[in-house]
Amino acid sequence: MVDDKEKEGEVQEFVLDPDAELRFEVENKNETVVVESFYLNCHACLEQLRQKAESEGKRGPVTMIVGPTDVGKSTVTRILLNYAVRMGRRPLFVDLDIGQGQISVPGTIGALLVERPATVEEGFSQQAPLVFHMGTTKLQTNQTLYNILVSRMAEVVQERMQANKKANVSGMIVNTSGWIKGDGYKLLTHAAQAFEVDVILVLDQERLYNELVRDMPQFVKVVLLPKSGGVVERSAQYRHEVRDKRVREYFYGLRTPLHPHSFDVKWSDVRIYKIGAPALPDSCMPLGMKAEDNMTKLVAVTPGPNLLHHLLAVSFAASVEDDVIQTNIAGFICVTNVDVERQMLTVLSPQPRPLPDTLLILSDIQFMDSH
Ligand SMILES: Nc1ncnc2c1ncn2[C@@H]1O[C@H](COP(=O)(O)OP(=O)(O)O)[C@@H](O)[C@H]1O
Ligand SMILES: [Mg+2]
Repeated sequence: MVDDKEKEGEVQEFVLDPDAELRFEVENKNETVVVESFYLNCHACLEQLRQKAESEGKRGPVTMIVGPTDVGKSTVTRILLNYAVRMGRRPLFVDLDIGQGQISVPGTIGALLVERPATVEEGFSQQAPLVFHMGTTKLQTNQTLYNILVSRMAEVVQERMQANKKANVSGMIVNTSGWIKGDGYKLLTHAAQAFEVDVILVLDQERLYNELVRDMPQFVKVVLLPKSGGVVERSAQYRHEVRDKRVREYFYGLRTPLHPHSFDVKWSDVRIYKIGAPALPDSCMPLGMKAEDNMTKLVAVTPGPNLLHHLLAVSFAASVEDDVIQTNIAGFICVTNVDVERQMLTVLSPQPRPLPDTLLILSDIQFMDSH
């Protein structure tokens, strides 16, 4: 009985005032963001949970934002993080969207401690984000790998939060991708479990909301929110351009120009791998090995023209004996030229030569350096 009441009481914290019609607009350089009262309400509720966590010496709320594409997930994530930072919190921003993620280049998942509000143009400050390499923007191609990376990310951020009291109390905001049906839904619920979420904000999808209410443990608050009036739908082409822009920003910066380095490396001096071997039917696999295992296999890549324009993740892993796929990424380089005769690659790199003596992991993401 008491339990029920308590639960009810907690859910109440998230009940939205149906009469509230407060809307205000935040002018930014290129964009007017409509901040509707339900987002403010969410922030107020999260703040209460943070205060509670603070007084009890516990972890603050872990909030996951879910919904289909173009409903404002990334925007709400930014709004909630900004509010939290302005209140003096230090929330952790986790972006699990490998297509339109805002922490590193496309094809990665990332986490970042947010210490100052983001601007629309530049996003959050990029001090030492934690990045894992997926190597593709299509979740469908390697769900096994994605789940492993999400679990690993959750493990690492939880460790880091425990070591930082302020961050721990502030909690996390976890942004997700718009693939919410079928297998996409399974990936979402896996992420919710891995991050031990307390709150799930569902944007504009009653069906997804109902599914999550049904499938999540009782203590998870699932809240349905309408999509913001300001949201605009974007085409696949636009999405592609945004991804390209993110890579450009990674190397060249945006408002603060960065000056990447370009230099040659010998084929014989690099060790390039890719993750995932072509799928074979189970009957062709060695005894005891599942087709799934193939998806996380490290396969050596021979340098050649096939690398042109591809991004290569610079792993912190120094040898194949390390648990390479679960090791985070130091950064990215881009192959801008392949000289078959001289057996050389030209690479664009945020750091001057030489490349660190670690493994490079091939990404499907390509970038045409037009500078
Ligand atoms: N409240 C808002 N006011 C103005 N524009 C918005 C608002 N919310 C989202 N947008 C715009 O709508 C588009 C989709 O929003 P986004 O947050 O990227 O959605 P999602 O992450 O769900 O795909 C973006 O171009 C974003 O700038
Ligand atoms: Mg998004």
